Amino acid sequence: MCSQLWFLTDRRIREDYPQVQILRALRQRCSEQDVRFRAVLMDQIAVTVVGGHLGLQLNQKALTTFPDVVLVRVPTPSVQSDSDITVLRHLEKLGCRLVNRPQSILNCVNKFWTFQELAGHGVPMPDTFSYGGHEDFSKMIDEAEPLGYPVVVKSTRGHRGKAVFLARDKHHLSDICHLIRHDVPYLFQKYVKESHGKDIRVVVVGGRVIGSMLRCSTDGRMQSNCSLGGVGVMCPLTEQGKQLAIQVSNILGMDFCGIDLLIMDDGSFVVCEANANVGFLAFDQACNLDVGGIIADYTMSLLPNRQTGKMAVLPGLSSPREKKEPDGCASAQGVAESVYAINNGSTSSESEPELGEIRDSSVSTTGASPPMLPDPGYNINNRIASELKLK
Ligand SMILES: Nc1ncnc2c1ncn2[C@@H]1O[C@H](COP(=O)(O)OP(=O)(O)O)[C@@H](O)[C@H]1O
Ligand SMILES: [Mg+2]
Repeated sequence: MCSQLWFLTDRRIREDYPQVQILRALRQRCSEQDVRFRAVLMDQIAVTVVGGHLGLQLNQKALTTFPDVVLVRVPTPSVQSDSDITVLRHLEKLGCRLVNRPQSILNCVNKFWTFQELAGHGVPMPDTFSYGGHEDFSKMIDEAEPLGYPVVVKSTRGHRGKAVFLARDKHHLSDICHLIRHDVPYLFQKYVKESHGKDIRVVVVGGRVIGSMLRCSTDGRMQSNCSLGGVGVMCPLTEQGKQLAIQVSNILGMDFCGIDLLIMDDGSFVVCEANANVGFLAFDQACNLDVGGIIADYTMSLLPNRQTGKMAVLPGLSSPREKKEPDGCASAQGVAESVYAINNGSTSSESEPELGEIRDSSVSTTGASPPMLPDPGYNINNRIASELKLK
């Protein structure tokens, strides 16, 4: 019997670029490779327990077979544990291999949960405080004093840089305290001054770095998010940066994700956040990549009897039908060499490199020589300065 693959997403985001790209790539690959494919929306699913057995209905019709692999795209900031995660858990319990897994998605739903997972693994992160109770923001103004000022404040559920700000001093925090929404807790974080207005977005798929993009704000604000007007340019990443992104991805148990790294003056990095439902329009353009196609290829490689593909094995993660949860921390050691594809600075996304090209570290997408890895003394701020002068 041929394998079955689903693309599961949410009605609210199905027309967005990443979903459209992934859907197109999966459809094409499934038809070429004789895999039964179905695009499913979250609200078309009903989950059942009948006679003590798990069941699934799609558009009011009970299913007798279930997909082997389900590629999941849910809007992380609004993921509901009692609805979306319930469906994902159900599929997992039915033996489907979810990409990403529900536990991994949960690890990124709340920024503080991400830091809780990463803590204790030697991952460099800015000191961060949060609190119990939705209404306790004002209490934290005193508690977070050790972080100093200015201090970074974020909604634990924020995204696209919209619920992140830099508080000047204690009075500033007291002044805005009554204006902010208290439906989810905030976190208070040490301000990484040298990274003001810039960070590196690293996309990791199947335990490999597929590319990295320097993002810079263009209006002096701290947040470098492209959705706030920040510009993204492809940027080489040091070995420490690559290993850090891979380590974070593995600890969180991600199949694919976007990791934001803050940049220190000495060229090292600290983790800012991890995104399970990573957007990649700006990334595709800056890096001349087809991230949707890469995610689709990785997902196809997880189908039964296809575990030979280079991207199939993600350290610390199990294959389809194994109901084992990820082990948690998989060592960054032993992870295959990360791959870096560079072009000549073009922002065109016309050409869609084949996965083979991206897998092969000796081949670049447009024939330009792969960049040399920066030496340990490499100062990324010098690179940024020169990038910006070019603009
Ligand atoms: N501690 C920090 N120090 C300096 N800049 C930061 C810090 N935290 C976040 N930023 C900047 O703000 C941006 C948005 O923060 P982030 O935590 O990634 O939230 P979001 O989920 O909204 O993207 C980051 O990409 C980075 O440019
Ligand atoms: Mg971010």
